[in-house]
Amino acid sequence: MSDNSITNVIRTVMVVFGTRPEAVKMCPLVLELQKHKEIDCQVCLTGQHREILRQVIEAFNIKEDYNLDIMKECQTLTTITTSVLEKMDPVLREAKPDIVLVHGDTTTSFAAALAAFYQQIPVGHVEAGLRTGNIYSPFPEEMNRLLTGRIATYHFAPTKRNEENLKRENVGGSIFVTGNTVIDAFKTTVKDDYLFSNLILQEMDYNKYRVIVVTAHRRENLGEPLENICRAVKNLTEKYDDIKVVYPVHPNPAVREMVYGILSNNTQVELLEPLDVLDMHNLIARSYMVMTDSGGLQEEAPAFGKPVLVMRTETERPEAVEAGTVKVVGVKKADIFKKADELLSDSEKYAQMAKSVNPYGDGCASEKICNILLKW
Ligand code: UD1
Ligand code: UDP
Repeated sequence: MSDNSITNVIRTVMVVFGTRPEAVKMCPLVLELQKHKEIDCQVCLTGQHREILRQVIEAFNIKEDYNLDIMKECQTLTTITTSVLEKMDPVLREAKPDIVLVHGDTTTSFAAALAAFYQQIPVGHVEAGLRTGNIYSPFPEEMNRLLTGRIATYHFAPTKRNEENLKRENVGGSIFVTGNTVIDAFKTTVKDDYLFSNLILQEMDYNKYRVIVVTAHRRENLGEPLENICRAVKNLTEKYDDIKVVYPVHPNPAVREMVYGILSNNTQVELLEPLDVLDMHNLIARSYMVMTDSGGLQEEAPAFGKPVLVMRTETERPEAVEAGTVKVVGVKKADIFKKADELLSDSEKYAQMAKSVNPYGDGCASEKICNILLKW
């Protein structure tokens, strides 16, 4: 808590997040901020996610100062936005932060930024400047990050390209290229001699099987695209008996119904509860490749030299596509199957993609952001 009379606190920095991917990328920054006694770091969870958010903050051993606890089953964009706005208001009045830091493109990020703006508290946007150029894809994330960027005074862009996007929009404020804090997270999560806490992953024979990590949850993929994804995966297991698909299923009921409907009772598919981030990162490190519609996995897997097939129609993360480790394959069953089939049958094609490139920084993004805040 901020009490300038006891310590030499000069800044109260409130870090707000509410979903799993934000947590993975904000926790390293919280750990860094906590190292400096000139900073009073306050953590406010919106609770847009519940169990899968808790998994991450526990892995990083972080305790929140506030939890708005807004999650409801089948929540809508409107209820998330209005609940965050309403519940942030008294928290901001009590904590009186000098700056509020939000992350990326979720509805938590946008609503928390707006809540801070309503109290004229400056906002710093971590992972700023990612764009597809299509406000309906990803939906609503592209609009969330545009609006958050407009509100923010400090933009922490992972790459030069993200900085250019912001400059092109004349977004105002100060832009800093820092790298992506997701790379920093590996310092906490990845270990060579890691023992999985999930028993299935612990007992998996990673030499006998080629392990394919699959995740899919995006709003625009619910329905037919997700069905195509599941059917393509099923077809792959019918063709290759040396693959094991590990699919930790997102808790969204709309996702679970479809995925379990098509892929349960398949001995080559492990449908798992959401993995804690330690298991997840170490699983990626031991996998053959990743098939996903997730944003975060597009940044993580390339750092381990694992090919990623992105089951979406476009990406806001073109850096790893240009480096050759990520391919955007769309959401049609035949296209997904074909590209995965190529990587499973053509060792040259696999080798071309399986090279370790990491366009997202040197693992010191949190330190850079923290130093900027200390100088400000
Ligand atoms: C949200 C973000 C998306 C991000 C994703 C990461 C928005 C609009 N979307 O989408 O950008 O990629 O998180 O996972 O901000 N649920 C639980 N327990 C949990 C979490 C979710 O039961 O711990 C269920 C609830 O029924 C909830 C539903 O999942 O209503 C959907 O959650 P929501 O945050 O609305 O959407 P996501 O698809 O998770
Ligand atoms: N993740 C995890 N457990 C899982 C699935 C994903 O820890 O079962 C991690 C993953 O490694 C990445 C983040 O969660 O760090 C991505 O979150 P998600 O896919 O929910 O969101 P997105 O990246 O699409 O916004």
